[in-house]
Amino acid sequence: MAPYIGTPTSRVDGVAKVTGAAKYAAEFNAPGLAHGSVVSATIAGGRITRIDTGAAQNVDGVLTVLTHENRPPMPDGDQAYKDEVAPDGSPFRPLYDNKIRFNGQPIALIVAETSEIARHAASLVRVDYDQEPHVTDIFHQRDAAVPIKTPSDPAEGQFAPPKTRGKPDQALAAAAVRHEAEYFVPIEHHNPMELYASTVIFERGGSLTVYDKTQGVQNVQKYLCGVLGMKLEDVRVISPFMGGGFGSGLRPQFQVVLAALAARFLRRSVRVALTRPQMYALGYRPAMIQRIALGANADGTLDAITHDAVTVTSQYEDFYRQETGWSGLLYQSANAKYAHRLARLNLATSCDMRAPSATTALFALESAMDELAVALRLDPLELRLRCYSDRDQHENKIYSSKALRECYRQGAEVFGWDKRNAMPSSMRDGTELVGWGMATGVWEALQVPITVRIVLTANGHAEVACATSDIGTGTYTIMAQVAADMLGLPLDNISIKLGDSSLPQSPVEGGSWIATSVANGIATTAGEIRGELLQLANKMPNSPFANATQEEVVLANGKLVSKRDASRTVSIADAMRQGNLDRIEKEKTTTPVEDHARAKNTHAAHFVEVKVDEQLGVIRVTRAVSAIAAGRILNIKTAGSQILGGVVWGIGMALHEETQIDHKFGRIMNANIAEYHVPVHADIHDIKIIFVDEQDDSNPLGLKGVGEIGIVGVAAAVANAVYHATGKRVRDLPITLDKLQG
Ligand code: MOS
Repeated sequence: MAPYIGTPTSRVDGVAKVTGAAKYAAEFNAPGLAHGSVVSATIAGGRITRIDTGAAQNVDGVLTVLTHENRPPMPDGDQAYKDEVAPDGSPFRPLYDNKIRFNGQPIALIVAETSEIARHAASLVRVDYDQEPHVTDIFHQRDAAVPIKTPSDPAEGQFAPPKTRGKPDQALAAAAVRHEAEYFVPIEHHNPMELYASTVIFERGGSLTVYDKTQGVQNVQKYLCGVLGMKLEDVRVISPFMGGGFGSGLRPQFQVVLAALAARFLRRSVRVALTRPQMYALGYRPAMIQRIALGANADGTLDAITHDAVTVTSQYEDFYRQETGWSGLLYQSANAKYAHRLARLNLATSCDMRAPSATTALFALESAMDELAVALRLDPLELRLRCYSDRDQHENKIYSSKALRECYRQGAEVFGWDKRNAMPSSMRDGTELVGWGMATGVWEALQVPITVRIVLTANGHAEVACATSDIGTGTYTIMAQVAADMLGLPLDNISIKLGDSSLPQSPVEGGSWIATSVANGIATTAGEIRGELLQLANKMPNSPFANATQEEVVLANGKLVSKRDASRTVSIADAMRQGNLDRIEKEKTTTPVEDHARAKNTHAAHFVEVKVDEQLGVIRVTRAVSAIAAGRILNIKTAGSQILGGVVWGIGMALHEETQIDHKFGRIMNANIAEYHVPVHADIHDIKIIFVDEQDDSNPLGLKGVGEIGIVGVAAAVANAVYHATGKRVRDLPITLDKLQG
């Protein structure tokens, strides 16, 4: 029935991307386009006392210099600046006033005839500050960290630490075997290939067409309307392609406000592209200090879990996610408690970054489980199996599906886990120590309301439209696959429209929720089309379907086909002819089925081999096997790429990534991809991805989403492998050579 779903279909936008035909936000042009360059603050806290833009203004070709002193009017209240994923607090307002909230804050925009002139002029702006003390070091602020407040938005309530179960302190004190330690993950930055940019076309009449790099065109549209006091119909935001976001583009970024302000001020089209160092002022994965205590019975079952976290946010917004509760989704323990506090630093607000909270939390939890296994003299995989939970411990719910046991089994088999010698430093390959480590991953399987429009024409072509983004994950492709199958048409007859705020409603693309949402949305709308075709067919004399319902027919090979008798068919063209139609258009919103009785998650089991040079300490991840349970997989090629990217990023997290701040100046020192290390090809060796079979009925297509699960747990698997190779436990990331010494 399904020629495309589940197959390794190549990206339908692949040719456009590799030939350069796919256009990104900074590549759209307009007559008379002006170019902006951003001036960034060089202190971390205080006020601007004087900003001298005279020399910049005098440069030939400079059109204007906007600062807080001469910017167009902006609203006073916070509400106008709240985007759909804004946390509690007072959102940052670019060029609003003279207050400096973080180093790298945009404080002026030069707009000029060319980008070279704008950049030169930006270098001529002189700024005097009245500095105030700042703190950018989480360890300095940990004692002053504040507990999570009950959020004003009940939807954010899900991120509060889970409730205490049982008597964790007593259980811990009475445990036969205990492990307790502190783990640290530093601030990390998203480094998408595409730079943040916005090209704002000033249309006749003053409306704006905004080509923006974003994970949510309608989020940016509404946000700009709030900030600029404009009507929705006067702002159209378009983002057909995105060169990576990973969460950094969930919230509208400051360059889009600056470009739009300038375009309206000059009544001219303006582009603002950020430099890579400027992108480091956009938000980051919050650093996290975690203290985990595990209490086990002698038989290797858990009786107590405590998990405390301190994470980083700004002075003006409280960003956090559910950092501490993940153990309750994986491991049975009658007693548990969780706490989460925020260290408010003089930095931009932290933000979502691939599998936010789970990625950092599972590094600590899965390292701690490995340490407990060592204390219990138990194989680390065996420990996971003894503690395995078939229920969400927080709400005592069953899972809609949970094939994690199968992930463990298949992953271990493909990796060859049974050949592992438990003794640290016992395995070697020439001058290298060999270490094998494993860890579990868990993420959410979410679905959100979304609207899909389909226009089917009598010649058997369909246009499928939704305002979702394709952040590089393959959304165009899976939408085309699902539409082709649901409408019974060849893939080439489907055209996908997305990334445009004028299309039917979609939330931001994030949280691994778009594939599930938009695919089921297409199925719903395609069902409406089928229903209408059936009605038309039934008006034909001698209709082969007579009293058949929509559920009793399918669309296949350009025809309506009876499910009971495949010889009963009516072609799309004949059905439309019956109604004198040349097209059918349907638009329908699909909302998830309410189901509070079951927990919905995706799972992973990662097995990693490292080789560590005994003299030099150089660590290579030579092999990784990741087994994933994520419901039905729409496209094993694009889904495989998502997991592969996640595993690579997990290796980067384990061995390379760390945002370094000079706390004296509160400034990021390595705001570029020369000094902020990410894995390169030479760091990546053999990675195998397994999708285990998992049936799930949470939504009609049985989907769960794969965008984020791939990274969760990988860093712990690497750290555990490094321990196994060297006998050295590194609890603060990244695991660099110096940490293996002594
Ligand atoms: Mo993802 S961190 O929700 O883009």
